[in-house]
Amino acid sequence: MKVLVVGGGGREHALAWKLLQDDPHLELVAAPGNPGIAALGRCEPVAATDVDALCTLATRERFDLVVVGPEAPLELGLVDRLRALGIPAFGPTAAAAAIETSKRFAKQLMLAAGVPTAMARTFTNADAARAEVRRLGAPVVVKASGIAAGKGVVVAMTLGEAEAAVDAMLVDNAFGAAGAEVLVEEFMTGEELSLFALTDGTHVLPMIAAQDHKRIGEGDTGPNTGGMGAYAPVSIAPPSVIDDAVQRVFTPTLRAMREAGAPFTGLLYAGLMLTPHGPKVVEFNCRFGDPETEAILPLLESSLLEPMLAIARGESIAHASPLRWSPGATVTTVVAAAGYPGSVRNGDAITLPPVPDGVLVFHAGTRGDAEGTLRTAGGRVLAITGRGETIADAQQASAQYAAQVQFDGRQFRRDIGWRERARGA
Ligand code: AMP
Ligand code: GLY
Repeated sequence: MKVLVVGGGGREHALAWKLLQDDPHLELVAAPGNPGIAALGRCEPVAATDVDALCTLATRERFDLVVVGPEAPLELGLVDRLRALGIPAFGPTAAAAAIETSKRFAKQLMLAAGVPTAMARTFTNADAARAEVRRLGAPVVVKASGIAAGKGVVVAMTLGEAEAAVDAMLVDNAFGAAGAEVLVEEFMTGEELSLFALTDGTHVLPMIAAQDHKRIGEGDTGPNTGGMGAYAPVSIAPPSVIDDAVQRVFTPTLRAMREAGAPFTGLLYAGLMLTPHGPKVVEFNCRFGDPETEAILPLLESSLLEPMLAIARGESIAHASPLRWSPGATVTTVVAAAGYPGSVRNGDAITLPPVPDGVLVFHAGTRGDAEGTLRTAGGRVLAITGRGETIADAQQASAQYAAQVQFDGRQFRRDIGWRERARGA
């Protein structure tokens, strides 16, 4: 079995690690991969967004499976192209990836299918958008419809902030085409969850829930990031909540996607908010989340490779066994580079201490230089997953190792999982 993993972050390292756990004889190739993945397989210097070069590589090497990590190549139609070449590819088509890449598309689909989500209207005209902001009143949420590097959502606590966000997106084109269309959305409150499900387009295999930590600072303070850590499982998302989300969110959304002529296969990520009126969808992503994947996959006892392969081959997972999970908990602490989430300094030399039992080190933004020194090469540098019987044990293992990682300007949060610990877990 020969598998290509597309991408080079912590998520892809965790995917590669899990696939090799499932089949130690697997021949693993990554494009472009990273030094952590290079310890597991071969890395090909092809960018994750170079669809032509990836297709050439896949044709030459005849992979049994291509797993696409990030959203960018999905949006560019990598899965469409691979399928046309007869190569089994895990991930949605470009049309189905619109569930993440167009917030307007996702919102219209959810509202039409009766999937619980915040009410929202879409605008391209700034006066009309400002009028909607004033009609709803603060707090109110303004979102760029397209992908804006995680910066396209403004949760405005005042009307002034909301109107400024409308102006930035529709008048000043702060996000270019991604912000040429905005959603003005009702404000929701509640705890957020990341819930992933593998799907063949109709049936789902839900995973356990995780919780991301988007702010740079401890106690969830400071600017937003791509995610500074995650933990799993989440006690406020027991199987009953997950079953409910399958019935009320995943199943109707997948039906609506089929009816829209864009069946979604791969991994559907629902960002949910547990509001006083029940779980509501904040957003969908068309791929595994990062860093949630690094927390979730180490707890997955059953095979990921088997359902991925079935889905990539276009087979049904109607009769697949439910995913099986180990007991215990994980906490993933992201170690970020100097400057993150602002402009990041790259090239700092990294020292990694020996990895103790109960800790997994996933590379996210690293590179090896000509002398073989590991250096920072991205905002999020490492994702450190600690495992334990309890969340407290897992947090300790993760934070302790993160504290031993050395490079200039290193930043990490010691409090990943704090909500769960505050619940007494
Ligand atoms: P998104 O990029 O859509 O996930 O939004 C980023 C973050 O903004 C979410 O994780 C929420 O914390 C917040 N957010 C988005 N939409 C809403 C909403 N309607 N009400 C309150 N907070 C929201
Ligand atoms: N951790 C959030 C994301 O992957 O989008």
